[in-house]
Amino acid sequence: MTWSPTFAAVQWKFLRKADGHTMKAANLFDVSGLVTIVTGGASGIGYGCAEAMVDNGALVTLIDLDREGLNQAVVRLTPRGIVAGELADVTDIEGLFRAFDAVAAWHGRIDVVFANAGISAGPSFLGTNGTRNPNTAFENIPADLWDRVLAVNLTSLLRTLQLAAKHMRPRRSGRIIVTSSVSASKTETYVAAAYVPAKAGVAHLVRQAALELARDNVQVNAIAPETNIGGGRLRDASTQAFFARLCPMGRIGFPDDIQGAALFLSSPASSFITGAEIVIDGGVLLGHTGETSPSLD
Ligand SMILES: NC(=O)c1ccc[n+]([C@@H]2O[C@H](COP(=O)([O-])OP(=O)(O)OC[C@H]3O[C@@H](n4cnc5c(N)ncnc54)[C@H](O)[C@@H]3O)[C@@H](O)[C@H]2O)c1
Repeated sequence: MTWSPTFAAVQWKFLRKADGHTMKAANLFDVSGLVTIVTGGASGIGYGCAEAMVDNGALVTLIDLDREGLNQAVVRLTPRGIVAGELADVTDIEGLFRAFDAVAAWHGRIDVVFANAGISAGPSFLGTNGTRNPNTAFENIPADLWDRVLAVNLTSLLRTLQLAAKHMRPRRSGRIIVTSSVSASKTETYVAAAYVPAKAGVAHLVRQAALELARDNVQVNAIAPETNIGGGRLRDASTQAFFARLCPMGRIGFPDDIQGAALFLSSPASSFITGAEIVIDGGVLLGHTGETSPSLD
């Protein structure tokens, strides 16, 4: 069958007017039955996205390299819906290929991919105590750290996008949601330099992929959280309080704060949005107000 806008649109199961639905939130944000992959889904933001999808009836597979974390995540989510885990390192193209194929073989298609797996590059040149540390400044980044951060955060995204496109393009339907960062569009004092250009590359790759996949009705968008989302790798209370003071909203974010955008970008509510970035940062990109938060100080 040849492509036409109408054909592409009806591939997305929630076309409201054709279904006779009215503009109800339950329909606009309906993700039930969507076959969903979340890379890096065993922890933090990925787990939060997976949880939002499972709780709303999507069929979710978590891809992660942390065997124990993956098992625990699947066990936690299984009572709430249809969940599976695939053990794979996103930098291993063959492992990633196998994981995507396993999902497609199981469900017959892939509707939504959260390309979320990523790693920190460690601290930057300035410590939270205000002193400079030349060892973590950009001129002393070890080559292996640079290579690893670029491989996990950027090159693996290209592979993930390629695999998602391979499964979605023939069906003229799909959503890809990439976890970028506010570091993609600003410099950082507390986040090591390798992370910053990696996420800038991620943000621009999202736009490029969105352009190239638009005619195939595959939408690619980014979520850009601030750099100190708690609950995953950021658990220390005093560090959370430090970064809360730098945030105009006076607190750090948590994976729960990402879940609304995850549902929005997966659902009919975002049916005409591609190449966009939703910043979820409590105002961090707006600048630092200098205010302290009475509840935290
Ligand atoms: N936490 C933040 O403050 C923050 C802010 C902005 C963007 N991000 C981005 O959000 C994403 C998730 O970060 P998080 O904070 O939830 O981290 P996290 O460490 O809590 O979770 C990341 C998950 O990805 C998995 N993972 C790491 N490398 C992998 C690989 N090579 N293959 C497969 N799985 C892998 C880990 O095992 C873990 O389960 C990353 O892309 C990160 O750069 C995080």
